[in-house]
Amino acid sequence: MDIKLLDKNDPLLPFRKRFKLKKGVNYLDGNSLGALPRGVTKHVQSVMKKEWGVGLIRSWNEAGWYDAPVRIGAKLAPLLGAKPHEVIVCDTISLNLYKLLVMAARLRPERKVILAEKGNFPSDTYIVESVARLLNMQVRYEGEIDETVAVHTLSHINYKSALKQDMALVTRAAHEKGSLIIWDLAHSSGAVDLKLDACHVNFAVGCGYKFLNGGPGAPSHIYVAEQHLNAIDQPLSGWFGHKNPFAFDESFEAVSDIRAILTSTPQYLSLASFEKALEVYDGVSMQAVERKGQALGDVMIALYDEHLSAFGVGLETTRESIHRGNHVSFTHEHGYKIVQMLIKQGIIGDFRAPNIMRFGFNPLYVRFKDIYDCVMAIKKCLDTKSYNEMTMQGIVT
Ligand SMILES: Cc1ncc(COP(=O)(O)O)c(C=O)c1O
Repeated sequence: MDIKLLDKNDPLLPFRKRFKLKKGVNYLDGNSLGALPRGVTKHVQSVMKKEWGVGLIRSWNEAGWYDAPVRIGAKLAPLLGAKPHEVIVCDTISLNLYKLLVMAARLRPERKVILAEKGNFPSDTYIVESVARLLNMQVRYEGEIDETVAVHTLSHINYKSALKQDMALVTRAAHEKGSLIIWDLAHSSGAVDLKLDACHVNFAVGCGYKFLNGGPGAPSHIYVAEQHLNAIDQPLSGWFGHKNPFAFDESFEAVSDIRAILTSTPQYLSLASFEKALEVYDGVSMQAVERKGQALGDVMIALYDEHLSAFGVGLETTRESIHRGNHVSFTHEHGYKIVQMLIKQGIIGDFRAPNIMRFGFNPLYVRFKDIYDCVMAIKKCLDTKSYNEMTMQGIVT
């Protein structure tokens, strides 16, 4: 395998320059917190100095703060395969999932089951179970979808195994039984070539701080298919979802577009960071992003076969690139210490209990060389047992 040639022929390599990456750091955790794009620091500083410092409250209108959730949603929409008026940027995944679940259940009042996913990100499960308690519904984690199911919710790409679901197929199966579907796109938005409209998805929720590089705690996004836009009935009906927020009406009347998803005053500094970060996708083909993500994973798995499998390292991720997102997970009994050892050397991946070493690759800045260096460092660590120098600090056993 000629790693140098793979990098030389990579059409996305020039986009790496759009990020501020420190020399000596091999960043393989963009699936948890994306790297800092160039220009974001300056932009947020300018928002603070000029728009806040000078413009003060006038900036809600004059600097476009008020319209930001809708404006930024429209900019993000092409990356999701959605129309501009179907996407809005606000709040967090968990909060948005809560809104969408209640909203979906209200659209199917005669049905009493939420079909959820075993092994999904725990926060999604906590929210699903809370909604079920609130609405007197049942949660099912197994079995086929049937006419009792109001809504099916699952991750498009699993946070541990990177297993990628067939969005068109699963959505069609839900619709055949009259159910609605909500996809969690936490590991998909900005990472793979999404086609929400073409797959006839009802609702989706995604993340701003992972592959989209919006910064720590960057706002999440919600997709509501056009057919549902004029009937949004979500449970956190705050003033920003009102038809006329500044009339200060005593009673709530939802606006009849995507803004009905909003609850409160937009967190503008985070939105500003996220909006500027989206510029790294200017001129980028999501097909090329998906293709490179698959190639990076294929290379990592081939190197695993050659160098790591003999050391008792397990492969938690599927070998089939069309069913895999942009991370590869290995298992090892000393996984935590190995990851700590790599971090000490500037190779930043992460650990997920009980024994998963997870390496994510944003195709816009990760090179094939980075994958190679990571696998070789794991091999050395196992060969020399240098992980024994690390402690289990921070882990509750
Ligand atoms: C798949 C998935 N869903 C949901 C969440 C929770 O996101 P938030 O903290 O924005 O609620 C995460 C966070 O990493 C995640 O990976």
